[in-house]
Amino acid sequence: MKIGIVGAGHIGGTAAKLFARAGHPVAVSNSRGPASLAPLVASIGSNAKAVTSEDAVKFGDTVLLAIPYRKMDQLPAVGLFAGKIVIDAMNPYSAVGRVMDLGDSTSSEEVAKRLPGARLVKAFNTMGWNTLASGSRPGYEDRLVVFIAGDDAAAKSTIAKLIDDIGFASIDTGSLRDGGRRQQPGSPIYGRPMTAREAKKILG
Ligand SMILES: NC(=O)c1ccc[n+]([C@@H]2O[C@H](COP(=O)([O-])OP(=O)(O)OC[C@H]3O[C@@H](n4cnc5c(N)ncnc54)[C@H](OP(=O)(O)O)[C@@H]3O)[C@@H](O)[C@H]2O)c1
Repeated sequence: MKIGIVGAGHIGGTAAKLFARAGHPVAVSNSRGPASLAPLVASIGSNAKAVTSEDAVKFGDTVLLAIPYRKMDQLPAVGLFAGKIVIDAMNPYSAVGRVMDLGDSTSSEEVAKRLPGARLVKAFNTMGWNTLASGSRPGYEDRLVVFIAGDDAAAKSTIAKLIDDIGFASIDTGSLRDGGRRQQPGSPIYGRPMTAREAKKILG
């Protein structure tokens, strides 16, 4: 599966390495331009290339959004995302690190509103990048969980398979609204590496 990555920092860069290592071609992008990503691309190898954000979206069958949530308005044109599976890894922090007040809404619902036509899956939100970088396990025993949520069952199962490919277990927390809320900053599963067994106990 070709994966375009918008935002190749801690989370996007780490995910790019894992996806490429699992055999998926990746196109990474950031705000400073492809040349600034030469070291990352060199460290990943032949499965990676650096492009503009627009070209990363065009490249991907799946697109990972890993820029600061507050910069969502700077994403490439909405039309480019139509029909694509889009992974929203963004958490709603302000520039000073406070969780933004979204009222009754949740961050991925806001992303879905911004990108109508995209097949949105919330994933990679609750795990810190350093755990993602080092927590992959080849066997199935005691894998760490990457939570997913969304309203498109087929898109969720594609992302569950991708998570499996990179050595983690996926757990579906539900719809974008309810499952998204279960993954928000401050929730019991946020920022706590855990196995599927532990996660199921917490989620009931
Ligand atoms: N860090 C974590 O452990 C963690 C865990 C889960 C989820 N998240 C979420 O993942 C997102 C990224 O966090 P991070 O820690 O990876 O941040 P980061 O290391 O600062 O990386 C952010 C990336 O986004 C790029 N970017 C910023 N504005 C952009 C734009 N307009 N167009 C394209 N690329 C742009 C940056 O590129 P430049 O450097 O060129 O500006 C950089 O590559 C956030 O929403 C965060 O809440 C983070």
